[in-house]
Amino acid sequence: MRVLVTGGAGFIGANFVLRTLAERPDVDLTVLDKFTYAANASTLDPVASDIRVVRGDIADASIVDPLVADADLVVNFAAESHNDRSLADPSSFVQTNLVGTYTLLESVRRHDVRLHHISTDEVYGDLDLDDPARFTETTAYNPSSPYSSTKAGSDLLVRAWVRSFGVAATLSNCSNNYGPYQHVEKLIPRQITNVLSGIRPKVYGDGANVRDWIHVHDHNDAVWTVIDRGQLGETYLIGADGEVDNLTVVTSILELMGREADAFDFVTDRPGHDRRYAIDATRLRTELGWTPRFTDFRSGLADTIDWYTAHRDWWAPVKAGVEAVYAATQQTL
Ligand code: NAD
Ligand code: DAU
Repeated sequence: MRVLVTGGAGFIGANFVLRTLAERPDVDLTVLDKFTYAANASTLDPVASDIRVVRGDIADASIVDPLVADADLVVNFAAESHNDRSLADPSSFVQTNLVGTYTLLESVRRHDVRLHHISTDEVYGDLDLDDPARFTETTAYNPSSPYSSTKAGSDLLVRAWVRSFGVAATLSNCSNNYGPYQHVEKLIPRQITNVLSGIRPKVYGDGANVRDWIHVHDHNDAVWTVIDRGQLGETYLIGADGEVDNLTVVTSILELMGREADAFDFVTDRPGHDRRYAIDATRLRTELGWTPRFTDFRSGLADTIDWYTAHRDWWAPVKAGVEAVYAATQQTL
């Protein structure tokens, strides 16, 4: 099977490439990536001779079209992915997440190629902390940020191309991922690398916000499950029952790294900050038979701490720049 992986040099896409190479020898992989600030070229270096890597924009039809024509399947991980950046400057989010997805859709339509579109639980907005509800495939879209609204728009484009043009596509919406190769702008790697750099971890607002954590390997196993067994035109939610509040995440990192649990700072909150996400993945579990394997969050966190400790060369070159951007917008409370 010839698979075109867009965004394959980013966090989840690169993990998808590495695991697919290890577990699916029948798959021939091409990565299309713009290598924005979020990509790390060194991640794919060890497998450079096993895959084809094309540097290019998913919104550029002249690059996308020949690659799609040559593929049996496109898996679209490419996106601008960080809420804080989308609040500072939404333009690249509109361009990549909306125009880029549109460009891919027109190309898979032209060449009759299957698409799997990767999306997020943030399209559903947020839940109250004491609400027993969780997101399901029928929850109404209600995104909060420029990031999540452009992801919601990209999902709607995919659904429209399925219905109007018969494009062969599936969608999946996953909760917060963690694991190796995640950019240090995101909560868990930011705080681990803060501790490793002698900087106090930073918690937005009151720290009571809840995210539904899933290990990136479980997400990618679920993506393959949907590709292999999902029904065309359908959406599947991916989550591993991993609700944890931000304060617990940060104090767990501090404890696991041998620091005092209160050695962090509260900083100004993110505007429009979603309170809680929670996924009900019953459909994926019962219809497609998927089960997560990395469900011990504290042990997954310990492994992730070990990974960032052992791979300082991977993140150190960008760490100071990320912290300088945060320092310009966030004050300690
Ligand atoms: P990331 O920011 O780490 O990686 C994104 C990759 O896309 C980068 O390699 C970047 O260079 C590439 N890219 C950006 N714009 C591009 C363009 N115009 N053309 C080609 N490549 C481009 O993101 P991630 O965390 O790996 O997320 C991957 C996907 O999964 C995104 O669609 C995101 O919305 C979704 N998702 C992420 C999470 C999460 O917790 N990280 C959870 C659910 C869904
Ligand atoms: O839910 C899926 C989404 O998860 C994905 O679609 C996004 O691409 C991904 O970035 C992630 O979005 P979040 O905004 O939830 O992730 P982030 O790591 O930025 O923040 C997680 C929580 O931690 C959130 O409540 C904000 C808070 N936070 C974040 C940072 C960077 C802090 O308290 N301190 C921080 O320094």
